[in-house]
Amino acid sequence: MKKRIFSGAQPTGELHIGNYLGALKNWVALQDDYEAFYCIVNLHAITLPQDPNSLREKTLDLARIYLAAGVDPQRSTIFIQSDVAEHAELTWVLSCISRMGELERMTQFKDKGKGNSGAGVGLFTYPVLMASDILLYQTDLVPVGQDQKQHLELSRDLAERFNRDYGVAFKIPEPYIPKAGASIKSLQDPAKKMSKSDENLNGSIFLLDDADTITKKIKRAVTDSGTEITFDESRPAINNLLTIYQLVTDKTQDECLAQFEGKGYGQFKGELAEATVEFLRPFQARVKDYDDDALSRILRTGAEKARSIAAATLSDVYAKMGLR
Ligand code: TYM
Repeated sequence: MKKRIFSGAQPTGELHIGNYLGALKNWVALQDDYEAFYCIVNLHAITLPQDPNSLREKTLDLARIYLAAGVDPQRSTIFIQSDVAEHAELTWVLSCISRMGELERMTQFKDKGKGNSGAGVGLFTYPVLMASDILLYQTDLVPVGQDQKQHLELSRDLAERFNRDYGVAFKIPEPYIPKAGASIKSLQDPAKKMSKSDENLNGSIFLLDDADTITKKIKRAVTDSGTEITFDESRPAINNLLTIYQLVTDKTQDECLAQFEGKGYGQFKGELAEATVEFLRPFQARVKDYDDDALSRILRTGAEKARSIAAATLSDVYAKMGLR
């Protein structure tokens, strides 16, 4: 039997090339060898206020993005989190075995909510919902970017704690964090990750940016002092741009180095812009491939498949806890 993978993205903001290179690209590559579940995590989205109409729209847009990136609905299960009630139900159970201290240590919470008594409780328990997503499916592997590593560790801790205290109900999931691309940085500030919520729009290349916009953003990207174009973490701006080049062209590090040896930043940026535009072109053309009906069918079928697995896990958990 194939091993299972689970991953997801939030339908908030616009997806950027960091999401693509850190996550989606690997989702597509892994779906041949694994039984894959890719979720649109709209319950995570409401940890911050969302306009209902826009959330509905962005949820479907994100499904289109999964498909356009190459997630194949014949092989992989694509579904919306809120269509499978077990995600919310298991979250309650896992909340009851989570500790305040371990959730307070989550860096994402520290960045977004800590010390702010007006912050939503959902922001605090967000990683528990993420653990439920993963654990419901007896997931072997979770392909994510570096920023989700700590959440993955919490998922493993909760699974181990439950298994120890109530009997084995969950598989312990492993993270899959790519060597290159796990943390694509902002083009304007390479000390920060590229982020959907960054106010400086020039920091991110969005997946639906047109060729002109992409070229302008890359031309404006900050660089480091010096002139060499190398993979070197002490020169984070060029390191980041070269990593993007490597991933959009599927070249090896050595090929990239050889190509830009002795060349200047201007020429490098020109070639990077061209390669990024070419990389996104077929993806952007495919985003319009699915009409609303086709999309609804895929999401309905996906939710049914997901529900049957999630329900079996939840029922085992309830039985083990004496909730019958
Ligand atoms: P989200 O929506 O913020 O991001 C989706 C995926 O993109 C990765 N990512 C990046 N990778 C490289 N460089 C970047 N700058 C960058 N920014 C984002 C993220 O690591 C992620 O893999 N909590 C998750 C969604 C989630 C989830 C799950 C993921 C909910 N339940 C269960 C895996 C399994 C999130 O907010 O991702």
